[in-house]
Amino acid sequence: MYFLTYMNILIILLRVILMDFKHKSTILITCAKGLVPYLKNEVERLSFCVDSCHATGVTITASLHDALTLNLFLRTAYNVLYLLRKFSAATPEELYREVSCIPWEDIIDPDEYISVVSQTDTPAIRNSVFASQTVKDSIVDYLCKKHGKRPNSGPSRSNIVINLYWKENRCWLYLNTSGQKLSDRNYRKNPFIAPMQETLAAGILLASGYDGSQAFINPMCGSGTLAIEAALIALNRPPAGVRINFGFMHLKGFDKQAWHTIRRTAQKLSKKTLIAPIVASDIDAKAIEAARKNAMTAGVEQLIQFHVCDFIQTPFTSQKGVIILNPEYGIRMGEDRELEATYQRIGDFFKQKCAGFNAFIFTANMNLAKKVGLKTSQRLQFFNAQIECRLLKYEMYQGSKRIR
Ligand SMILES: C[S@@+](CC[C@H](N)C(=O)[O-])C[C@H]1O[C@@H](n2cnc3c(N)ncnc32)[C@H](O)[C@@H]1O
Repeated sequence: MYFLTYMNILIILLRVILMDFKHKSTILITCAKGLVPYLKNEVERLSFCVDSCHATGVTITASLHDALTLNLFLRTAYNVLYLLRKFSAATPEELYREVSCIPWEDIIDPDEYISVVSQTDTPAIRNSVFASQTVKDSIVDYLCKKHGKRPNSGPSRSNIVINLYWKENRCWLYLNTSGQKLSDRNYRKNPFIAPMQETLAAGILLASGYDGSQAFINPMCGSGTLAIEAALIALNRPPAGVRINFGFMHLKGFDKQAWHTIRRTAQKLSKKTLIAPIVASDIDAKAIEAARKNAMTAGVEQLIQFHVCDFIQTPFTSQKGVIILNPEYGIRMGEDRELEATYQRIGDFFKQKCAGFNAFIFTANMNLAKKVGLKTSQRLQFFNAQIECRLLKYEMYQGSKRIR
């Protein structure tokens, strides 16, 4: 009898602790391969202590309230995942049982829509979709018993998102506080050919040393991702400033007022004008039209100088700084020969016009990169989806230092 009462008190206490937005747990912040050093830097600059680094993310110990800040400010992160429970499961039945031990009625309203994303590496299951289905069934059955109502579920990540990692017989179940990936900033309504992911563009800029105090020149800008992300960095504006939906907004206990306070603080810290120019150009007028519209949605169109021209004609400003080109890298046979000439011309352009700049090429084709004919001072590895890429740095000294 006494034991039962003690257990009940413990369960109630656990519940209160779980749904307290101030309660700390492990937070896994995921990112694309290659972006971890920049993500770690960003997390530390927000005054969090990084507990561990992995190939595609970092972990910290923080609260759901902290997750609001992380979602708003991190430029290179994909998802901010709050650990709900870590447990062992050797079969789908055990997974179902363990998931139903969480007091879901404190976390999810039965009117919400639920989506489960799984990554599995276990002999218990062949298909990660089946693991997602099992987790979803367990949550939905639990809530149905409590409320007599089945929440809707499906693949859309627009409301409640749960992430499961199942390795051998160990499981980690997370609340995905981002919902949709943070690379989806909500400003790129007009993608042009082969647009770069926004998180990758931010990572490239951070790797280049760009901080807004120097000029940024972006020939071959396509849909303008690099130029827009540069403007957001220069203005100290949060990358998710124009995003209106996050996973945490659908959790029970979400404090709207606290969110508005964090956003207002971010607004106060951001600048209205640039101290150094940002120039973006492309040979295709349709690319510049798309880039302008995207910049307008991001609220930075007036601050970027757009030009339709061959990259060689890109107008320079007197201020020196960073120049980044992301030329096509050709995956079809025969394309390389056409592109060889372009890469050769980029080398000439750097030599003739870019003295005093830190010049960069972002490409996945190292054979084409050789055609540039200049010595790189740094080669950083990134991944554009599954494609391995390099950010090649060329220091274009002014005056007596040799360029080659
Ligand atoms: C790989 S895309 C750049 C994608 C861009 N980073 C983005 O996020 O959308 C390459 C761009 O180079 C442009 N381009 C190709 N040849 C060019 C040239 N000779 N001068 C200027 N732009 C050129 C293309 O029109 C295309 O928009």
